[in-house]
Amino acid sequence: MTELHEGTLDTTTLAELREITTRYPQARSALLPMLHLVQSVEGRVTSRGIEACADILGISAAEVSGVATFYTMYKRRPVGDYHVGVCTNTLCAVMGGDAIFERLKDHLDVGNDETTEDGKVTLEHVECNAACDYAPVVMVNWEFMDNQTPESATRLVDDLRSGVEVTSTRGPRICTWREAERVLAGFPDDRADEGPAGGPPSLLGLAIAKENGWTAPSSEAEGRTGQPARTAQEAQETSYSDRARSETDIEESGAETVGEDAGGEQNPKGGS
Ligand code: FES
Repeated sequence: MTELHEGTLDTTTLAELREITTRYPQARSALLPMLHLVQSVEGRVTSRGIEACADILGISAAEVSGVATFYTMYKRRPVGDYHVGVCTNTLCAVMGGDAIFERLKDHLDVGNDETTEDGKVTLEHVECNAACDYAPVVMVNWEFMDNQTPESATRLVDDLRSGVEVTSTRGPRICTWREAERVLAGFPDDRADEGPAGGPPSLLGLAIAKENGWTAPSSEAEGRTGQPARTAQEAQETSYSDRARSETDIEESGAETVGEDAGGEQNPKGGS
């Protein structure tokens, strides 16, 4: 490591960057959390952060930069106190995500990937967050804010800017983006258990399976039969026929009528 890089990032950060490398058999596997730590300190991936990671890992700055510019969670421009990501992927878009994004651009007077003048909010449209069952979804520092509307999203950013405590609909109290980046670097803030772990829309499939007595086949049980391993094609064909059977079962059991009519209850049929 060169003196130049020791002097540019503070010694605590450099020590923590080295600490991250000890978590992995191959030190370079630590690059992703190291870049999150750089963001937690610098507010973005800076050149000196890239150089520090390269020095510690013994790779080139170009290799680090290649990673930092590939993944959209790494930012080369400063991020505000709160990163607000509006999902505008297909499902969220048709459910209102496009309208939310347009409203927030107007309300905050920023464009995509821009930060408000007070440095509080960076707005970005993001791709599917695997939360389609709660569309349209907004994320604040990667925590879910489910089932948003233009009005609720406007209140959300107003609360964030004015310092009102905000809690994720399926997670913890919202911290700042830098604090969240430190968690992503592997330094917990002890908020992981705050908030519900799952909600009715995500658990509906489990409820249907439970009511019908469906269980996943045990891979261990299959292994004990002594049957030869199935080819990938055989496995896929079996999967298709299982799925077709399940869909028939669902129709026969009337489970397709659940959903909104069930009023969001975990038990789709209102039974025990
Ligand atoms: S499309 Fe928005 S979370 Fe999937």
